[in-house]
Amino acid sequence: MQRQGIEHISTVWSHGTEILVDHAQGIHLYDEEGNRYIDFTSGIGVTNTGHCHPKVVAAIKAQAEKLIFGQFNIVYHQPVFDLVAELKQVVPPGLDSFFFASSGAEAVEAAVKLAKHATGRPNIIVFSGSFHGRTHLTMAMTTSKTVYRTHYQPLVGGIFVAPYPYSYYFGWDDETTKKFALKELKRVLKGQSAPDETAAIIIEPVLGEGGYVVPPAGFLAALRELCTEHGIMLIADEVQSGFGRTGKFFAVQHENVLPDIMTMAKGIASGVPLSGIAYKSELGKKWITGTHGGTYSGNTLACAAGAATVRAIREEGLDKNAAVQGERLMKGLKEIQKDFPVLGDVRGRGLMVATEFTSGGEPDAAIVKAIKKNAQDMGLLLLSCGTFDNIIRWIPPLVSKAEDIDEALSIFRKALEKAVK
Ligand SMILES: Cc1ncc(COP(=O)(O)O)c(C=O)c1O
Repeated sequence: MQRQGIEHISTVWSHGTEILVDHAQGIHLYDEEGNRYIDFTSGIGVTNTGHCHPKVVAAIKAQAEKLIFGQFNIVYHQPVFDLVAELKQVVPPGLDSFFFASSGAEAVEAAVKLAKHATGRPNIIVFSGSFHGRTHLTMAMTTSKTVYRTHYQPLVGGIFVAPYPYSYYFGWDDETTKKFALKELKRVLKGQSAPDETAAIIIEPVLGEGGYVVPPAGFLAALRELCTEHGIMLIADEVQSGFGRTGKFFAVQHENVLPDIMTMAKGIASGVPLSGIAYKSELGKKWITGTHGGTYSGNTLACAAGAATVRAIREEGLDKNAAVQGERLMKGLKEIQKDFPVLGDVRGRGLMVATEFTSGGEPDAAIVKAIKKNAQDMGLLLLSCGTFDNIIRWIPPLVSKAEDIDEALSIFRKALEKAVK
């Protein structure tokens, strides 16, 4: 019997839908009755290569038959070397050491621990709207929504928040927003966490859960300069924006900015739990051996899936496809925007696109909820985001074709029409 025992499943998980998924292929999910859904959630940015990409499935099968688990504190194994070889070809040159874990939050934890050892400093600066995870440290670094902190206070100390340069929210042009955010960041360094107490500044190079915001041109470069001036580690959290999502392998590459440490997860292994950090090898000399690790750190099966995923993205040019399909999606959404004043902003980079809804100048979460429901009824799964939950984030698999984008746009228009009636 389907769903038997549901009362034993923790209610701490929230659920976007009631779908009981049976199987999936490419951009499509199928439920237990055979209904087909276009999955434009990509499992929150995980299935960049589409569901069950044949090359990834083959790699997992082959590895599972050979060695599922070679504990990395005890032995070395080949998949970790294969993954490193693949990653070396796609991460910004200069990031040449790698550590692996399982979840995005663990990658952020590792990045912070490395930054603390590398600098001997205690504090971290984050940006408003950030999402860095749900562990106790990363929860304290997360300011996208209070729900992630509710009744868990007090949180880990030594975390300070500067405003993310979010032009549409402030109602300013990009240049004004950039100047303001840099001025406020400098104020944080003067008023809250002195540079010689600041180990790292961490930023999502395209803000994810907080609203799919592309920072103004030049902001990341200015941040790099400020960090270098004060010996502060710049951490780019590419957990959501990485692996081709924004039209380049990593979002920092749009601005040619080299972080000291970069976090990776989600799209790295097509759904097998894997995360990691890439960092400048000179920092590694200060990261004391034995002070970090984990049972599943460098997991054999996950590394095999990761190596196959990165290879597939490279071989099939999925990053480039994200740029092409992203343009098509943005163009289509901007057309729709002309007919619906409630659709206040369309923005994004590659296939990381936001549609933000406002009514009378206020965030409109109700319409987002209605659109998602209507779209699901018509076979399209969409995801929301933003502090006020008034944004639909477009995060399709990078294998999406022009006709998939067009089909989704057509459903979205109908879902929106129905929602405003
Ligand atoms: C930018 C960013 N960092 C970190 C995380 C945490 O990743 P995980 O949920 O795998 O711990 C997320 C998850 O959405 C994220 O988007």
